[in-house]
Amino acid sequence: MARTYQDATGRWAGVGPYYAMFPVTFADYVVRRYTHPGEIVLDPFAGRGTAVFSAATLNRSAIGIEINPVGYVYAKTKLSPAKQEEVECRIDELGGHADQFKDEAAHMPHFFHRCYSHRVRRFLLAARSNLNWRRDRVDRTVMALLLVYLHGKSGEALSNQMRQTKSMSPQYAVRWWDEHDLDPPDIDPVAFIKSRLVWRYAKGIPEASNSRMYLGNSIAILGRLRQLIAKGKLSKANLLFTSPPYHAVTNYHYDQWIRLWLLGGPPNALSNGKGGGKFGSREGYRQLLENVFIRAARVLEDDATVYVRTDSRQFTYRTTLAILRDVFPDKHLTKVHRPMLKPSQTALFGKANTPSEKNGEVDLILMAQ
Ligand SMILES: C[S@@+](CC[C@H](N)C(=O)[O-])C[C@H]1O[C@@H](n2cnc3c(N)ncnc32)[C@H](O)[C@@H]1O
Repeated sequence: MARTYQDATGRWAGVGPYYAMFPVTFADYVVRRYTHPGEIVLDPFAGRGTAVFSAATLNRSAIGIEINPVGYVYAKTKLSPAKQEEVECRIDELGGHADQFKDEAAHMPHFFHRCYSHRVRRFLLAARSNLNWRRDRVDRTVMALLLVYLHGKSGEALSNQMRQTKSMSPQYAVRWWDEHDLDPPDIDPVAFIKSRLVWRYAKGIPEASNSRMYLGNSIAILGRLRQLIAKGKLSKANLLFTSPPYHAVTNYHYDQWIRLWLLGGPPNALSNGKGGGKFGSREGYRQLLENVFIRAARVLEDDATVYVRTDSRQFTYRTTLAILRDVFPDKHLTKVHRPMLKPSQTALFGKANTPSEKNGEVDLILMAQ
């Protein structure tokens, strides 16, 4: 059954905008089809946590790992959002701190002056400096909601008009606003963000089963999970359900630079952030996949299913297929090609959108024989 906005899980599932995210209905389908209630789903490239959220809200447990803090904040928040009253209170507090950031707001790089009004800049600086999103659930929830509304269509976000999913480059954005004569909206950030809580919380908060979300590199974290299993503190997973980054397609750091700035990162777009840049080196990409899948195999039950969605472009597809075959030689492999039939994220960014092997996806499903 598809999720609807008539219950809390339907309203929280969409947090937040992230490049190459799974559709929620697809994640729900895979979780239901390949696991039983009570079983454990592992996603070592969790992104905004779509697979993790599906599992956790369908009476399974989930373990997610994500190296990009933006995806992590969304995923961790969805599994356990703070109460609406606490979030409102914290937003008011931040509003109270905003005055302390007057001078800093006046001296930000030009991009920020064209993107946000002065009072929005002060508020964002207060949020950036005060929210302890790594440790505190209320602060993380406020941060997740700020990230959702940080940029987007006019009237639906804190910024001057911009795409919601992908941060534009500062030079491009400023030129575009100049050409279209657009100024940042002078909105009250406290009232704006609080107004957005009403819909999100109207049906309550999702009830997620015991699940974990880690921030960091899967290569290291899967090693720690293995130790927990050896000590009897964690059970092995029954489904590995993931979508690795595609080779040379997306730069998860560059494409999220404004959100990463709010989380404490630099005030400009860097193309070689910690998330592996665009995974442009073929050998680096191959090693990443190999290292992660080898380590993931060690924390899976012998009869676990492996479900990997990847890009159908030749290098990514062949590399992923070869590594999965090597790591799981005893499992039976099924391939499902999914040509891109609908307008895709890629199409939005100016690439061709004709259904073809070149811009579709492939699901690789490996099951115990
Ligand atoms: C295709 S996206 C996954 C999207 C996800 N299925 C969703 O629904 O949001 C791949 C993710 O892998 C993450 N990633 C890349 N290298 C990683 C690593 N070494 N450890 C953990 N995550 C990594 C990227 O930051 C990116 O968010």
